[in-house]
Amino acid sequence: MNTAITGLQWGDEGKGKIVDLLTPEHDVVVRYNGGANAGHTVVVGEETYALHLMPSGILAPDIECVIGNGVVVDPEKLMEEIDSLESRHIDTEGRLFISDRAHVVLDYHKMLDGALEEFLARGRSGESIGTTRRGIGPAYADKVLRAPALRMGDLLHDSVLEERIRIACDLHSEQLASLGCPERPDPQQLIDRCRQWGAQLGPRITDTTYLLHDAVTAGKKLLFEGANACLLDVDHGTYPFVTSSNCSALGIPAGTGLPPSSIDRVVGIMKAYSTRVGAGPFPTELHDAIGDRIREKGREYGTTTGRPRRCGWLDLVAVGYTSMLCGTTSIACMLLDVLFGLDEVRICTAYRLPDGSTTSRFIPDAHQLEGVEPIYESFDGWDGDLDFDGDRDQLPDGARRYLDFIESTLDIPIEMVSVGPERTQTLLATAH
Ligand code: GDP
Ligand code: IMO
Ligand code: MG
Repeated sequence: MNTAITGLQWGDEGKGKIVDLLTPEHDVVVRYNGGANAGHTVVVGEETYALHLMPSGILAPDIECVIGNGVVVDPEKLMEEIDSLESRHIDTEGRLFISDRAHVVLDYHKMLDGALEEFLARGRSGESIGTTRRGIGPAYADKVLRAPALRMGDLLHDSVLEERIRIACDLHSEQLASLGCPERPDPQQLIDRCRQWGAQLGPRITDTTYLLHDAVTAGKKLLFEGANACLLDVDHGTYPFVTSSNCSALGIPAGTGLPPSSIDRVVGIMKAYSTRVGAGPFPTELHDAIGDRIREKGREYGTTTGRPRRCGWLDLVAVGYTSMLCGTTSIACMLLDVLFGLDEVRICTAYRLPDGSTTSRFIPDAHQLEGVEPIYESFDGWDGDLDFDGDRDQLPDGARRYLDFIESTLDIPIEMVSVGPERTQTLLATAH
């Protein structure tokens, strides 16, 4: 059985924890989208790991990990992650494979990412996207633009490497100048660094499309680790306040080279409330003491950038839409512990539109979504002990009513309930 893990909101739902939890049931963990903009935290006993490009499955010994063709790889960040894991005695040798078709993120992409953000901030609306500045947008733009792009396989071919980098530096220097940015890439320095990365990463760079098809043929079980999340999907998210890849489960075939039929099960990861980092519409956002309380209790600060996350009530209109897109077969409801101790808890079930009408359909357009007003279902809060031994029926009545409502509204089973960052803080019982 091959499983897809995908975030159903705006990211940071706890995908890393669930990938880590489900890894032992699989043989290969595969990243298919995004880059070092992702930040997946995995807590194993006393140890906390923050993974960005590395599939979270690497923490389990003997598991193979693949960075698929749909990922954009910053070799500098990847080397840092490999070194940091090796220093913590996690051996990555011989079990990390990087697609030769994955595109490379270089200094000029990060410079352009920052320059574009500054340009937008100075512009008419004064509103930038609030990217992670990891060069994601410009790297995917180069991929689609073709001419100046560099793929991981090119790191192993000296003449291609040199030519592409010189063209890219010329083009991007002009773009940086026109954006009013004083920074310029240094082509020779980049060529030298790419040669070094080629030598270091060379044995791991391969045709992962064949590798994955061979794995399927050999009966191995794959776990697809989504990065970012569905509402940040470039086609289906809250455009233009999105990232630049197909981060929903829809991105798996294109980002791995496997057909859609390779996905047997889709576990949608959903926080018990909502968060968002960066700019863009967020209908259920709380600008009050409850929002602050959720942020502090849930430690809602970005894994990649450290930015405070915007917090709000659970938006089931949005989750209904993303579950539909991904073909979600079950849900993992995360961070339920954060909602313990509130007097009242709310769930958004519909939007009121500016003309007074209501809809239970999501509106994946930033401008239109800004104008909606959430319509809530209210629930009595709950309190109680968080010391469970794996059974969902031990949850306080209020929490069970909350979960029952989500399940019946979405008509999707909640397979896992998470009440803390650790592996053991997970209630696995399915609906009663
Ligand atoms: P990801 O990007 O989807 O992998 O999520 P992040 O790792 O960026 O953010 C989720 C954060 O919540 C991490 O710090 C996790 O350790 C933590 N976490 C995961 N599940 C739970 C939970 O059930 N309760 C609490 N309190 N924290 C959790
Ligand atoms: P994980 O995998 C939360 C957001 C950024 C910004 C927008 C575009 O940890 O869930 P980008 O740098 O991708 O061009 O930024 O997308 N964003 C995320 N927010 N979690 C993530 O990943 C994110 N990846 C991108 O904050 O608003
Ligand atoms: Mg994250």
